[in-house]
Amino acid sequence: MHSLAETNSHMDNENILQRLSRRRFIRNSVIAGAGAIILPSALVGCGKDDDGVNYAGQGFNEGVASFDPSTDKVILWTRYTPASQETGKPVILLDVAKDQNFTSLVVSQSVEVDSNSDNTVHVDVSNLTSNTKYYYRFRSETTNAVSVTGQTKTMPAAGQATEIKMAVVSCANFQAGLFNVYGAVAESDADVLVHLGDYIYEYGAGGYGTNTATAALNRAHKPAGEILKLADYRERYRQYRSDEQLQKAHQLKPFICVWDDHEVANDAYKDGAENHQANEGDFATRKLSAIQVWHEYLPARVQDNAKIYRNFEIAGLVNLIMLDTRIVGRDKQLSYTDYLTQTGINSNAFLAAWQNPQRSILGAEQKSWLTTKLSSSTVKWQVLGNQVLMGKMYMPAELLLLTAQIAGGTATPALLTQYNTLVTQLATIKGRMLQNDPTLTAAEKARVQTVLPYNLDAWDGYPVEREAVYAAANGKKLISLAGDTHNAWYSDLTDINGRRAGAEFATASVSSPGFEAIFGTDPATVAAFEQANALLIEDLQYMDASRRGYVMASFTANQAKSEWRHVNTINSKSTTTVTTKTVIES
Ligand SMILES: [Fe+2]
Repeated sequence: MHSLAETNSHMDNENILQRLSRRRFIRNSVIAGAGAIILPSALVGCGKDDDGVNYAGQGFNEGVASFDPSTDKVILWTRYTPASQETGKPVILLDVAKDQNFTSLVVSQSVEVDSNSDNTVHVDVSNLTSNTKYYYRFRSETTNAVSVTGQTKTMPAAGQATEIKMAVVSCANFQAGLFNVYGAVAESDADVLVHLGDYIYEYGAGGYGTNTATAALNRAHKPAGEILKLADYRERYRQYRSDEQLQKAHQLKPFICVWDDHEVANDAYKDGAENHQANEGDFATRKLSAIQVWHEYLPARVQDNAKIYRNFEIAGLVNLIMLDTRIVGRDKQLSYTDYLTQTGINSNAFLAAWQNPQRSILGAEQKSWLTTKLSSSTVKWQVLGNQVLMGKMYMPAELLLLTAQIAGGTATPALLTQYNTLVTQLATIKGRMLQNDPTLTAAEKARVQTVLPYNLDAWDGYPVEREAVYAAANGKKLISLAGDTHNAWYSDLTDINGRRAGAEFATASVSSPGFEAIFGTDPATVAAFEQANALLIEDLQYMDASRRGYVMASFTANQAKSEWRHVNTINSKSTTTVTTKTVIES
């Protein structure tokens, strides 16, 4: 079969997706044995180069990883670089044991290295024991190279655990800074890391995320250009996977991943992306390459590589529903600029498009799957592992326009002064409204109550479908986990009638810049921005606009807790975090 990069660009999307669905990257499946396996003594404690041959550069340079833990399965991953002297297919052995000395083996057998998958190795190990820690390693029979020892854990069955802890992360831009957040999660007591996407960024060296520390930290993107082709995406993933803190997180925690836009290109939707231009080739081909490489490096237990939405019932407490709000079914985002007239926004035309019941962020098939999963689940917490913010971020229109003006250009001192003046005025009106001040005029109220959705790339751009999700979850405890924005948020989820449908725990980024890149790091300015948003956006209860971090989400039979944990810096190595906010849903 010729490579996907060579796919005929005239092939229609349907055929490409059909072809994609036939490509399966988890070629190895292994059934764990019930009894102990005795390791041949020649292979115990083997080291590199003990046959006297120099195998420089070969081995398991990208570390090890585990994915999609269930009660009896987990996908184990590595990548093997053969020695230049090696001929033929490398023979790799996998050991899985319940102890780190590998004396109590449950698996020891050869697995396939697939050169068509960039020499990555995926093994879906089944027949494991629930709620159990396992150790694993890969070995080369030819060169005696041995990987680091990975740790993973199967999920508890119902009744086996009283609490489940998920570290929620998103938006790791290699050239924006060190991956201290991954290091912090590696050292945490999370049971699983839930990755909501932007695991890589597609921009070239010097592009988005670059800052004054990038060069000193030796973190400019490779390859140097924007990634477009299969080989480009592979090189970018290898660069990210060379990061020691990301390697450590993968080595110590199982990951459950979905992609966001940057795994393909910025602001992607099913047929295109903001950062895909006509002179960059056929978008469907680019998307196909991006999806292939995502599965090579971040395997998921799915039947069809184009459809990564899937769910995990954990400990009888949590139904973790991982979604694809990006690629599989999303209609193109609306843009206010398409509705701007000489006299402002043509609100009738905008509202007609915005409220069109045909507009979809999930696609019909995923929407049907999701609503069925929500309405049929009997566990306490329905948790959406979701890319973009689900909560309503309806902002006073004049504040939105000024925020957009600042975000779209330079935050000049004059604009920031104008911003602070406006925020003070609106906050004062809002304060008087909350106190039922009888002297408030209709015009004053209108300034605060005339609102527009802040980000049409989020669920706010697809309000009818959001209502369908809230309706399907009615009577259930709904929590949305979200990433994408680089900032931390806690919001009420309210439906069109004002019913509280649930809550949203949205994480800051691992390293991508947040609002501080726009508004600066002056504490007073940051605090004013945070407080203005929390006060003036009805459903928003908390935000952090300037720090990198993750959410530790913990679920018990009685409560869902979110702790927003932030690192102090990404310019020098430090995994110390501070918890800036804790909330409990019950
Ligand atoms: Fe991002």
